[in-house]
Amino acid sequence: MHINDLDTPALLIDLNVMERNVRKMAAYAREHALRLRPHTKTHKSPELGKFQVANGAVGLTVAKVSEAEVMLASESPDLLIAYPLFGAAKMTRLTGVAAKSNVTVSVDSVETARPIAEAALAAGVKIGVLAEVDAGLHRVGVQPELFVDLLRGLAGLEGIELRGVAFYPGHIKGPDTDGLTRLSALISGLIAEARRAGFELPVVSGGSTPTMWHSHQIEGMNEMRPGTYIFNDRNTVISGACTMADCAATILATVVSTSVPGQFVIDGGSKTFSSDRAAADGFGVFLDTPEALFEKMNEEHGYVKHAAHTRKVGDRVRILPNHVCVAVNLHERIYGVRGDRVETVFEVTGRGKLQ
Ligand SMILES: Cc1ncc(COP(=O)(O)O)c(C=O)c1O
Repeated sequence: MHINDLDTPALLIDLNVMERNVRKMAAYAREHALRLRPHTKTHKSPELGKFQVANGAVGLTVAKVSEAEVMLASESPDLLIAYPLFGAAKMTRLTGVAAKSNVTVSVDSVETARPIAEAALAAGVKIGVLAEVDAGLHRVGVQPELFVDLLRGLAGLEGIELRGVAFYPGHIKGPDTDGLTRLSALISGLIAEARRAGFELPVVSGGSTPTMWHSHQIEGMNEMRPGTYIFNDRNTVISGACTMADCAATILATVVSTSVPGQFVIDGGSKTFSSDRAAADGFGVFLDTPEALFEKMNEEHGYVKHAAHTRKVGDRVRILPNHVCVAVNLHERIYGVRGDRVETVFEVTGRGKLQ
């Protein structure tokens, strides 16, 4: 099928770019003896998870237990749920996943770990945990001064296996040498402190897309979890971690109105792109006219200011989204394209899996 035969709006992935991103990251991880465990919240597709595993990933990361259920189809050797889980319904689903796959959960308190341990014991399954530390984002993670206390608490729980430490440096958004130096000192210091207290931490799992090429500079880290890197997006370009040529995802849209002078309107809005703003202006970049300003959105309409535009109703445009992960979650399928041909379709089975 030709791209022109697709109805719009549609999410396209340039397969050449996506495959190159996956292989380049695997090569980097290999070169630095880092285990690669990509976060699948970016593509939410077991088929793409399978592709990452076939190309160097040791396992996959998910945010939710419902995403873990979906990612079982990727046949990943194991899954990390990098999000605090709490509640009886979650425990039932978690032990269900653990019965089918090796699974590890990041926890930052004994309160969240204890029900996991109890559920694992009752179900007769093995569940690993990583002790999550707040590395500066101030989202989740035990405060560093309480890290060893958390390790002691986790080690005392029968039913779970303490496998290491997790952190997420989401506060480092661009080239930030000081931030990376502080992060490295924090992580290596915590590993040393844990060792003095008698804890070996086989897994030291961290990383993000903006910091991906600096992962080897974090002393002691042995596992990296970038997610966005598979497609990249405008935010990744702004972070300096990739160029426009490394961005695989675009939204194909149709011009549906040129009635207002100096403006055209496309058939996609916040339910197509999400309303995430980037550090730059607008909701995305038009590949052929980067000077056009994607200024405003309603749910199903995008307003584009472009004084000198020559667009006509029916014209097709391709737009690089600001934040691809949230855009993917809005689409039922991803069209994999090579040049102008649609080569394959990936079902976004994990979309809307929030529980
Ligand atoms: C815990 C965790 N690990 C890894 C990632 C992947 O980072 P990125 O989105 O920068 O690829 C995220 C992203 O939200 C995350 O929350």
